Amino acid sequence: MGQNEPILGERLERVLFDQGTIRECIAGMGGRIAQDFHGEPLTIVAVLQGGALFMADLIREIHLPLRIDAVSVSSYLGGTESSGKVTFLQEKLPNIEGRNVLVVDDILDTGRTLSAICSRFREECNPKSIRTAVLLSKKIERSVEFEADYVGFEIGNEFVVGYGLDYQDEYRNLPMIGVLKDEWIGRI
Ligand code: XMP
Repeated sequence: MGQNEPILGERLERVLFDQGTIRECIAGMGGRIAQDFHGEPLTIVAVLQGGALFMADLIREIHLPLRIDAVSVSSYLGGTESSGKVTFLQEKLPNIEGRNVLVVDDILDTGRTLSAICSRFREECNPKSIRTAVLLSKKIERSVEFEADYVGFEIGNEFVVGYGLDYQDEYRNLPMIGVLKDEWIGRI
């Protein structure tokens, strides 16, 4: 970063959720998930890259025997608009046969990503059950019929970064979630 560059958080126009608010929300969600699964073991599958941070914090709030895994997909191609196509970037899917599965992602937007992952898991992996959790859900009409079972916060139709969410693969390490200043769109 050059000498006159603002620190990362100062590139935000608005902060939607700060670190404490996110932590509290995830603690509540973890408690609900643990209750709903009544002590049954669980496999949490993070959608990489963004879902990894959410999973790391969420699993420490779920007091159940659990395993973790991940699935790597791409739909955004680095910009602020979804490409509309979900591509699986790995050949081998998680081993979830006979398991209760919770797929976790940072954000539900068009619905295509989670819908494609759940369909593929159901068709090819023979899980016992599949549920989904997202930290954020955009309040928009989805491109496919899909809603998550657990939602942290609902937001409007705006592009957000931080806490795993990126713009051109940057900003994932911001501890808060916010909207970038226009001047930082189109440059890094
Ligand atoms: P879909 O549209 O498939 O989107 O529900 C889910 C994936 O798209 C990415 N996404 C975003 N990433 N800011 C981001 O940094 C956003 O506002 C945003 N909306 C969608 C994200 O990777 C998610 O897994």
